[in-house]
Formats: sequence, C-alpha cells, structure tokens
Amino acid sequence: MTIFTPSDTHILKAARYLSQSKLVAFPTETVYGLGANACDDIAVAKIYEVKQRPTFNPLISHFESTEQATKMLKLEGLALRLAQIFWPGSLTLIIDRPENCPISLLASAGHPSLAIRVPAHEVAQKLLNLCDFPVVAPSANPSGKISPSSASHVDAGLGNKIEMILDGGWCATGIESTVVDCRNKNVAVILRPGPISAEDIENVSGIPVQFAATPKGAIASPGQLESHYAPHAQVVLDVVEPAKNAAYLGFNAAASPLEHHFSLSETGDLVEAAANLFKMLHQADASGAETICVAPIPNQGIGIAINDRLKRAAAPRP
Ligand code: TXA
Ligand code: MG
Repeated sequence: MTIFTPSDTHILKAARYLSQSKLVAFPTETVYGLGANACDDIAVAKIYEVKQRPTFNPLISHFESTEQATKMLKLEGLALRLAQIFWPGSLTLIIDRPENCPISLLASAGHPSLAIRVPAHEVAQKLLNLCDFPVVAPSANPSGKISPSSASHVDAGLGNKIEMILDGGWCATGIESTVVDCRNKNVAVILRPGPISAEDIENVSGIPVQFAATPKGAIASPGQLESHYAPHAQVVLDVVEPAKNAAYLGFNAAASPLEHHFSLSETGDLVEAAANLFKMLHQADASGAETICVAPIPNQGIGIAINDRLKRAAAPRP
C-alpha cells in the first residue's frame, strides 16, 4: 500500500525519502505533485522515467516560502512582486536561471530558465518545511494523461512506481497553477492559463498581462502540447444534447439521473467547475463510455483555464 495519511510521522518519512533520491507524491491546492529533490540529478531523472515525460519538458521547483526562493535565486523585479502578492498560491513564475544555481539542470530541460512556485496546501507546506532543498513536482500522472486531483488518481496512474503517496483528500482548486513568464521587465506573459486569471494579476498587481502568442508549431511552454489530459474515451466539446450512451460533463444544469452524466457545476460556478474537472473526467472515463461530451464553458476568468485543458483533452492523439 503506497497511500498514507498525512500525519506528522508520515510527512517526516516522506521528507526522508526525498532526501534519499526517492519519489513521493503529495497534495497541493491545485493537483497532486510527484516530488523529487530538485538539487538531485538522479531523483529528477527518475521523474522523467516514471512519468514517461519528454525530456524537453522542464519541471516546476517548489519552495517552502518566498524567502527560501529569494535566498537561493535572488528574486527581483516582476517575479518578486508577483511572489509577494500571490505566494503561497497557484502561480508559477518563470525566471532566468541564475549562475551557479544548485537546482538540477535536468529540471530546466536545457532551457536557460527556471519555473518556481510556493504551494499553499498545508501538507505541501509541512513537507517542504522539512526539506532543506526545493522539490520539483510535475502533476503526478503519466505524461499526457488526466491530472490527479486525489490520492487514488495518483495510485491508479503511478502507484506501483513510487515510494509513497501522501493523501490530502481532494485538491480544492483542482486545476494546475497559472504559469507566468516574468522575464520581460514590464509585462507578465501567461504561458499556461490557470486558477489565477489575467484580470486577477492585473487588478491586484497593476502589472500588464499578455497571453503568450503561440503560432502553430511554436510552443511557448514546452508542456503545452496539443494533446494532453487525454482520457481513454474521445472527448467532444460544446455539446448541449449528448447522445444517450455518451458520458456527459454538464455545466450550469442540474445533475441528470443517468449514471454517466455529471454536472461540473449545477449553478454555473466556474471555480466549482474547475475543482470538479479532472475528478469528473476520471469518473466519466471510468464509466467505459466511448465518448465524453462536454457542455460549453464560458471563456472568462478560470473558464479560460478549463477550456485550455478541455481543448487538449479533445485534441487528436499523437
Ligand atoms: O499546479 C501545478 O503547477 C502542479 C503542482 C503539482 O504544482 N504542477 C504541474 O507541473 O502542473 P507540470 O510539470 O505538470 O506542468 C508544468 C508546466 C509545463 O507546462 C512545463 O512545460 C511548464 O510548466 N514549465 C516548467 N518549466 C518551465 C520553463 N522553464 N519555461 C517554460 N515553461 C516551463
Ligand atoms: Mg502536468
């Protein structure tokens, strides 16, 4: 059994495993992460192997606090400003990789940059506190598959390949962090939409925000591949009336009595829909239906991130 309650003893055990180049999955407020010591080449290499992750796709290093990140990486300018406002929280910052940085080069996957985040989840915080190194943590799913919002999702995808899973229940936010490139002086560039929206950033920080231009073929963030989050079933978007035998993720409508029909939010609440997205995609897929139809989702606020994930779930598979 690899799933453990997040008692202090188990979190301490997890921290020990991390210091011994082992992999541990842990909850964050966004999705479960698959953790490894960011300064340990062997441990970081294991992440790529276990997830079957393309080695061109870099990893996010998770820190216990803005202070820890600042000490190691000398955060400044736009990145420091955003960190001070939004950390701990669902925001990942892309910065220039400083010289003599102890974080494994593998975590940057050949890019001259680093992705960093301080998660807010209590279990993640406790775990990071016990580590005297940052922890790289991609979403704890096999590459290209649906991200995990519960310990059992992690177990189903990777359970037999990792040391332990700390069970923190359902992830409250349910969708991965917003990734923002802070390397331009005066503008924050969103590489991956997420729980913290462009308006949140602009309104709270006053910093202008752009979405990365992604001409066909170019990938602003290497993880933003067209096909991702792919269930076994085909995913069809913007469906108002699903065929009877299709699984369905509705929105702004009462749950249907059909077992393979789900409502992302009965009241049209986008935050609730984001929290339910991966959970219900997993459930719909487990129903065995060949097709999962999804209702139209308003493209505003966190709805932009939901539609981003859905578009990739529905994209043709490589
Ligand atoms: O909410 C999250 O961000 C979760 C939790 C566990 O923290 N983690 C997560 O990691 O979603 P992952 O590896 O599944 O997604 C990280 C994204 C990928 O799209 C990756 O390409 C991008 O961040 N990324 C990482 N380092 C980058 C860099 N140096 N430059 C540009 N994009 C980067
Ligand atoms: Mg991922």
